[in-house]
Amino acid sequence: MKIAIINGPNLNLLGKREPGIYGNSSFESYYEQLTKDYPEVEFAYFQSNHEGALIDKLHEWGFDYDGIVLNAAAYTHTSIALGDAIRAISTPVVEVHISDIYQRESFRHVSMIEDACVCSFIGFGLESYRKGVEAIIRKEF
Ligand code: DQA
Repeated sequence: MKIAIINGPNLNLLGKREPGIYGNSSFESYYEQLTKDYPEVEFAYFQSNHEGALIDKLHEWGFDYDGIVLNAAAYTHTSIALGDAIRAISTPVVEVHISDIYQRESFRHVSMIEDACVCSFIGFGLESYRKGVEAIIRKEF
């Protein structure tokens, strides 16, 4: 099974960025443990701060992988193009967020990608990614 994880803008700063909201762990250290926990899964990881680069990667991986776990970060709330890219590919995409976007500022309450994704895990800290991976492994969507 092949699972890709794609992170959007500012998530390269996890561990340094607003630790009260996003925690003290870098994504790289979390990802290292996550990949060890599922040795049967072939993982790939991509992060970009650029909307078009995220779209290009969805196009590249979106016909080949068994599932994509996507934290589109702030583009979640603005990007019709990312929603369209998810609709355009055949690989199921799971939306994840570290923080509970529905308990934060009102501009975060809207997700432009929610309807295009097969399911969402929101507000479980970094464990949102694990829930996304497990949903893909178990095909629970
Ligand atoms: C986030 C929530 C978004 O609102 C925010 O812009 C992010 C991270 C999260 O994982 O909690 O960058 O997607």
